[in-house]
Amino acid sequence: MCIVIVGFFKSIQFKFVLIYTLLILLAMQLIGVDFSSSLEKNYINSKQESMVKEAKTLSYFVSEAIKKAEETDKGDMNVISKMVQDQISDVGDNNVKVISKDRIIVASSNDNSDELGKQDNDKLVVKDLYTSEDAIPRILRSKSDNGRVMIVTTPITVGKEKFGLLYMEDSLNGIYKELRTTNNYLTSAIAIALIVTALLGYFLARTITRPLGQMRRQAGAVSQGDFSLRVDHNDDDEIGQLANSFNNMTDRLQEANALTEAERRRLRSVLTYMTDGVIATDRDGCIILVNDRSEELLHVYRENILGKSIIDLLKIENEVHVDDLYDMENSMTLDFSTEHQKLLIRAHFSVILKENGAIDGLIAVLHDVTEQEQIDEERREFVANVSHELRTPLTTMKSYFEALSDGAVEDESLRSKFLRVTQNETERMIRLVNDLLRLSKLDAEDPNFNKQTTNYVAFLKGIIDRFEMSKEQHIHFVLKLPKGSIYTYLDRDKMTQVIDNVISNAIKYSPNGGSITFRVVKKGNHLVTEIKDQGVGIPKENLTKIFDRFFRVDKARSRNLGGTGLGLAIAKEIIAAHGGEIWADSEWNKGTTVFFTLPLSRGGSYDA
Ligand SMILES: Nc1ncnc2c1ncn2[C@@H]1O[C@H](COP(=O)(O)OP(=O)(O)OP(=O)(O)O)[C@@H](O)[C@H]1O
Ligand SMILES: [Mg+2]
Repeated sequence: MCIVIVGFFKSIQFKFVLIYTLLILLAMQLIGVDFSSSLEKNYINSKQESMVKEAKTLSYFVSEAIKKAEETDKGDMNVISKMVQDQISDVGDNNVKVISKDRIIVASSNDNSDELGKQDNDKLVVKDLYTSEDAIPRILRSKSDNGRVMIVTTPITVGKEKFGLLYMEDSLNGIYKELRTTNNYLTSAIAIALIVTALLGYFLARTITRPLGQMRRQAGAVSQGDFSLRVDHNDDDEIGQLANSFNNMTDRLQEANALTEAERRRLRSVLTYMTDGVIATDRDGCIILVNDRSEELLHVYRENILGKSIIDLLKIENEVHVDDLYDMENSMTLDFSTEHQKLLIRAHFSVILKENGAIDGLIAVLHDVTEQEQIDEERREFVANVSHELRTPLTTMKSYFEALSDGAVEDESLRSKFLRVTQNETERMIRLVNDLLRLSKLDAEDPNFNKQTTNYVAFLKGIIDRFEMSKEQHIHFVLKLPKGSIYTYLDRDKMTQVIDNVISNAIKYSPNGGSITFRVVKKGNHLVTEIKDQGVGIPKENLTKIFDRFFRVDKARSRNLGGTGLGLAIAKEIIAAHGGEIWADSEWNKGTTVFFTLPLSRGGSYDA
């Protein structure tokens, strides 16, 4: 899964909170600075105004007092000083001094001051004493506590004459303290506002990032094929609509995926259970898909051939190029036969096209045609055999008839001889046709069998007796049959045909004076019949072939003996229809044994 967890400092939430907080901080700072500076200005201005006013009032009262003292006490300085002192003694916190023209401190609000009567050499006092016309306010550093003080000097005029200067000083510490307190309040308010802003920003950002996070998780899960997650955001805002669209999209994707998955499963099971092999390739003929049947047919493993060229797999590199397969209209028959097994595969090729019509790949469908080819081959062989078998007697008859019509008919001995030959040939043909008819009946789906419970030993004995009576050669029959009765369920006519053929073969190929041994033994729930002769024998490689249609070991000799090569083929069919098997064992020139089995009747009574 590839969900990248966004680092906290890179998250939108953090950025949002940071920007939001910085904005508020900036705004608050601007407002705060402006507010505190204008507050300071206000405080100072009003302080200044009130001090100037107070200084002026005081200056008036002082000048009145001086005027009064001058009128009554002829300007005695002590009296003046006393009166002035009275005026300024209750001015509150302000430090007030009255300095005369000659820089002598006449009065001071500082009660225990020892500066009275002393000269004031303060530069400011000296300057204002001689130059100022009106009250002058100033803010200076305090000499005592390094705090700030406001100093207001006002000239004192008595009548039209300048008496001196009123010096008023007051500490601004109170104002600045108050300003500091206000600033502290402001800072606390900013801090609280910032915390609230950050929290609000966090929650606001969360309303955006939470559904975003859910969508990210959901997208990751969808990419892994998990469609179970849904974004949980029901608000009707833009994010809600986005979440809704996202959920809808996931639903559609899930449906589409389910459909594709179902299609894929269906295709896979179709491909798996197909009786034909299917191989798909890309544009270059490299294998991209192989079904189970192809693996089975070609004896390969999917892992080993995926990505390899189909040309190499089908071993057709010498015959065609990949591009030829795209134009191939007919199928190809490929021979995969080995020493031990015949395998013919027919391959049909069809092209996979893209939507725009370009070639996208190739589908090869492989069909095992070995059996079909074999059947075709057998059919061809059968027709050739039948024609050949019929042609020989017909040719013989034709030549005899020609000889007869050319005059042999006149000669009585020749005539009867020729007619006997043609009669024999006709009989041979009838026999052949009858055998073929019999075989075709046996080939039919439901050959008409008339099975009945039969005492097999007595049944076999009857057939042997018949041969014993009619045999021409001097051949000795040896019977090793069980005593009593063994019951089997069989079609007597058909089984008679089988046994007749086996015995007649044994007689046909036995030398004069040979013996034929008959043996019947019970093996499991089967009965095995053995018919052994001392004749020419059959080569080992032909032991199974003698049960094929028209097969004869020595064609010329068999034909002389009147055989068509159908007897054992018919026997094989009949025995199979009885649920048994037939086979032969032989030693060349020593003799042949033919075995066949028949199932015992249920309860297979065996009276010894
Ligand atoms: N007992 C045997 N000894 C030697 N060869 C045998 C014996 N039985 C069968 N064969 C060989 O098997 C061949 C097939 O036997 P099958 O009975 O099918 O045909 P047939 O005897 O030649 O003709 P048909 O039985 O149709 O008259 C024979 O041609 C013969 O070459
Ligand atoms: Mg025969």
